[in-house]
Amino acid sequence: MTKVPVMTEASPIKAKPHLPDAQTVTQVTHWTDRLFSFRVTRPRTLRFRSGEFVMIGLMGDNGKPLLRAYSIASPAWDEELEFYSIKVPDGPLTSKLQHILVGDEIILRPKPVGTLVHDALLPGKRLWFLATGTGLAPFASLMREPETYEKYDRVIMMHTCREVAELEYGQKLVESLKDDPLIGDLVGDKLVYYPTTTREAFHHMGRVTDNLASGKVFADLGLPAMNPGEDRAMVCGSLAFNVDVKAILEGFGLREGANSDPKEFVVEKAFVGDGI
Ligand SMILES: Cc1cc2nc3c(=O)[nH]c(=O)nc-3n(C[C@H](O)[C@H](O)[C@H](O)COP(=O)(O)OP(=O)(O)OC[C@H]3O[C@@H](n4cnc5c(N)ncnc54)[C@H](O)[C@@H]3O)c2cc1C
Ligand SMILES: NC(=O)c1ccc[n+]([C@@H]2O[C@H](COP(=O)([O-])OP(=O)(O)OC[C@H]3O[C@@H](n4cnc5c(N)ncnc54)[C@H](OP(=O)(O)O)[C@@H]3O)[C@@H](O)[C@H]2O)c1
Repeated sequence: MTKVPVMTEASPIKAKPHLPDAQTVTQVTHWTDRLFSFRVTRPRTLRFRSGEFVMIGLMGDNGKPLLRAYSIASPAWDEELEFYSIKVPDGPLTSKLQHILVGDEIILRPKPVGTLVHDALLPGKRLWFLATGTGLAPFASLMREPETYEKYDRVIMMHTCREVAELEYGQKLVESLKDDPLIGDLVGDKLVYYPTTTREAFHHMGRVTDNLASGKVFADLGLPAMNPGEDRAMVCGSLAFNVDVKAILEGFGLREGANSDPKEFVVEKAFVGDGI
């Protein structure tokens, strides 16, 4: 028997089911085909320290939340939360997350944690933020945190990517800081931005590790070589990057600290599973 299509009255549009711990997307910016940033509403009860990370995600096809660790890229005082994300083509979460639109919901577990916080460092004169790729995210938060400039005379942001376009999110953020009505005066001339590329021509090039080990960055910025009396550092990149930077910082006499045991530098992975 041939099936005859049945005309029915339009059924009311089904409301999307609300996600657990849902927050609504308020802004999405695509920086390259591998990088994007987005902002979401902030749970009213969420308190965090600039530099910490939370678990965020979407509902998986199996009906269970698919969550990943994400550094909060916005500062603790911001009314919304910002994230800076990779797009892994076949990544379980980011293959979907990269398609979010304003008005969509994401899951956000409101339990912030992390080692890249001011409390984990002893007082110092200069603070170095050392990052590759999306490892910039916690420093996007800390560069907008008043405590950063209250505690240090100079703040140096070293960020390295393969290509120039991958630096743009950080460049725009740094440019916006001096005129920021809330912290522009505090930032003043204290923030020194030192972006480099490794696989495309740029005015400054080279790995963070090479520029520290050779002394090039100190010469370029007119600063003394790192020393444990004056310098503090926070590190965020791939596992290989973190391991190599840690060895260099220890070579300068700095010791790794933690929330419970503040010392001269702290490290956090920007992602896991890069084959090491
Ligand atoms: C403490 C912590 C904080 C993190 N903060 C961020 C953040 O702020 N922004 C962010 O984009 N990611 C961050 N990550 C990584 C994030 O948790 C996910 O791995 C990422 O979103 C990809 O998820 P996925 O499910 O698509 O792929 P996954 O299965 O998680 O990863 C697949 C592969 O993609 C590569 N990869 C994953 N993340 C990255 C990355 N960020 N950069 C380069 N290559 C990557 C790795 O080789 C990994 O094996 C963080 C991870 C940790 C441990
Ligand atoms: N970035 C891209 O355009 C691109 C495109 C497609 C796929 N991917 C894949 O995505 C993954 C992540 O790539 P990514 O570019 O975000 O991160 P990445 O490979 O960690 O490189 C980011 C930056 O960190 C530098 N770096 C890497 N290891 C280091 C170490 N041990 N010490 C000091 N500096 C180090 C790199 O320099 P070097 O250039 O000298 O390594 C590069 O400038 C990789 O598996 C990659 O193959 C990347």
